[in-house]
Amino acid sequence: MKIINLGTSHQAAFYVATELYKQMLLNKESKLGLATGGTMIEMYKALVTLLQNNRLDVSQVETFNLDEYIGLDSDHPASYHYYMRHILFDRYPMFDTAKIHLPSGITEDADEEALRYEALLDKRGPVDIQILGIGQNGHIGFNEPGTPFDSLTHRVDLTESTIEANSRYFDNREDVPKQAISMGLQSIMKAKRIILLAFGAHKKQAIAQLASGRITPEVPATILHQHPNVEVYVDHAAMVDLNSQNVGLDESCRGDQV
Ligand code: F6R
Repeated sequence: MKIINLGTSHQAAFYVATELYKQMLLNKESKLGLATGGTMIEMYKALVTLLQNNRLDVSQVETFNLDEYIGLDSDHPASYHYYMRHILFDRYPMFDTAKIHLPSGITEDADEEALRYEALLDKRGPVDIQILGIGQNGHIGFNEPGTPFDSLTHRVDLTESTIEANSRYFDNREDVPKQAISMGLQSIMKAKRIILLAFGAHKKQAIAQLASGRITPEVPATILHQHPNVEVYVDHAAMVDLNSQNVGLDESCRGDQV
């Protein structure tokens, strides 16, 4: 795993957008694992700009999102279906809607939907690049602390801290759904390449826990140490001192070992 400070969130977002762009340029049938959330906003803006400037044909590209809230239909402004349409798919309409996949938040049976989504990932995957954000508690996707490392796509009870963090997207805290469907940690690990982004001082502790090299289900993102092809890009504010005695115990985290 490499943890690299790319300077500002703007610079990091642009770099990662370029990596996604190159992936689609080199393989017209690329499969991308996509994330939502505040961290990704600049990245998708940069990606749309790259796609528009170059008019890349993405009609064969297939996308798989990490997660969706249970109970929100795709037109709810806080749903991840809505987010993805608004930030990427409507802005660059060449994506084939039949090749855009997110778990459904409004199925009768969320457990059945989770099984369907995992089977789809197995049939159509693996994804070439999986993009991840990270929660302040170290979650990836909606895999909260304690989630088993062998978890597949599943129904999740959101923690209070995640509900609190995501309440900014809702009128009232009470409106935040209490459950979601999320790719599991094992589903995420099936990706060929993983890129995690973290911006801001509020993410620094999660990055420090990742940099420590200690692998524990209490910090779900630490499973990524077991994947052979992971890059972590942060801005100045989220960067930890990899030379400190408290973090950076894992030598492989140093950016200068790229
Ligand atoms: C989003 C997701 C989450 C977010 C994480 C960070 O699809 O799965 O794990 O990446 O909660 O969210 P932001 O970027 O809003 O800080």
